[in-house]
Amino acid sequence: MKISFTKPGLPETGVLVVMGYEGGELSESAKAIDKVINGSLARAAKIAKFKGKLGELVSVLAPQGTKLERIVLIGTGKPEKLDLLGAEKLGGTIYMALSAKQPRTVSIAFDQFDEGESRVWEQAAHIANGALLRSFRFDKYRTKEEADKKPSIRALKILTPSGGRARKAFEQLEKVAGGVFLTRNLVSEPANILYPESFANICQELTELGVEVDVMGEAEMKKLGMGALLGVGQGSDRESKMVTMRWNGQQGKGRKAQSTQIAFVGKGVTFDTGGISIKPAAGMEDMKWDMGGAGAVTGLMKALASRKANINVVGVIGLVENMPDGQAQRPGDVVTSMSGQTIEVINTDAEGRLVLADALTYTQKEFAPKTVINLATLTGAILVSLGNERAGVFANDDELADRLKAAGEKTGDKVWPFPMDAAYDEQIKSQIADMKNTGGRFGGSITAAKFLERFIEKETTWAHIDIAGMAWSQADKPTCPKGGTGYGVRLLDQLVADYYEG
Ligand code: BES
Ligand code: MN
Ligand code: ZN
Repeated sequence: MKISFTKPGLPETGVLVVMGYEGGELSESAKAIDKVINGSLARAAKIAKFKGKLGELVSVLAPQGTKLERIVLIGTGKPEKLDLLGAEKLGGTIYMALSAKQPRTVSIAFDQFDEGESRVWEQAAHIANGALLRSFRFDKYRTKEEADKKPSIRALKILTPSGGRARKAFEQLEKVAGGVFLTRNLVSEPANILYPESFANICQELTELGVEVDVMGEAEMKKLGMGALLGVGQGSDRESKMVTMRWNGQQGKGRKAQSTQIAFVGKGVTFDTGGISIKPAAGMEDMKWDMGGAGAVTGLMKALASRKANINVVGVIGLVENMPDGQAQRPGDVVTSMSGQTIEVINTDAEGRLVLADALTYTQKEFAPKTVINLATLTGAILVSLGNERAGVFANDDELADRLKAAGEKTGDKVWPFPMDAAYDEQIKSQIADMKNTGGRFGGSITAAKFLERFIEKETTWAHIDIAGMAWSQADKPTCPKGGTGYGVRLLDQLVADYYEG
């Protein structure tokens, strides 16, 4: 789908989308086309009781006196209240409504509604971004799909004043969307295709964008003492890997240019059977996306490198497959992490924290970043508390939690902060080791975070984001078809842009 921005003016063919505001008033373009077709659009709106609510749709097919295929009236809600997320939703809704109708060309007339506050070019860019995000498809394994079921839109034209500025803004958004799509693809791949080594190979492709990629295998990780991560992978025939991706985009500034300002760490369990503490069969297929944290970090690195972010960042992902076999880790085993701390593995299904423990230690030892943010599909308990609306944030620094909150509201990748009281530590005390890897049923997401905190050095500003409820969606959303969501890429790209870049 080719997306372009042009000056207002009514197209002669294809599908024309025009806006209607809350209360039912038509936009200037809507009024103009309505005149051409003798008032049929206004009549259709009336018959359909069109109120102009955000996303509301009315269609006129084969409008007489034109060569258009259809005219679609879409509600914007109150135009002065249309924020950038609303504009994205609008674009996604238009795409969703039309893609099933087989048009080739869709023109969206987005008029200036008031001279004051509204930045029409920015809204126009976000309409395009919403359509782009909604157009994602993971269809590589569908060999028998009929042609008329496939999306047909070849060209999407946004007709708007300041099209040049809109295009410029969209070009940046498009780069971030490229990162989101990489994450969605990674999360969607089945575990027979995406396993630690093949995942690492995909990361290698980022070198084309100027990212330095380094892959460690088990021998090297063993030398570094990563007993926690290696214990998880030891029941799998697939070799565990750790991938480091570095983007050194900070310009000039001498010695400072060498240092890593921020690090992102991801849980990459390419399949989580639970190990010897095996999971029930029903729904286990979902555990192919237990690498959602690593997927988000990889997509984020792509986004940052694509838009040449003015910052030095490192992404580190721990890639393992959690399988039960004769070599597998047993409940009760004690492992020694890279930090030197010992862990009693009560439940082999609480494996993500074991992987992250070593990835976090490695990241801090190797790169000494001031700030570390990790993402993980860590606990089922976060689904109990937050459902599929927000990820949980657990931080040792309120300012960082606030920044994540703000970036979340802006991008729609929303978060909610959780407490980190010292008292929760009681629940992960072990009889025989420094800690155990489960804290019982109560406050399960918090005790998991408290476990991770033990691998954070005093001087590191840190946040853990539990994305178990967000990495995958069972339902279509305006800017995301059901499946892998790419959650986290936009959140962290925005965080970097607003607080760390430059
Ligand atoms: N990968 C799961 C968490 C998960 C659950 C992610 C549902 C996505 C959807 C994690 O490894 C896990 O199994 N956690 C256990 C921890 C428990 C054994 C302490 C859980 O949440 O049940
Ligand atoms: Mn598990
Ligand atoms: Zn897991």
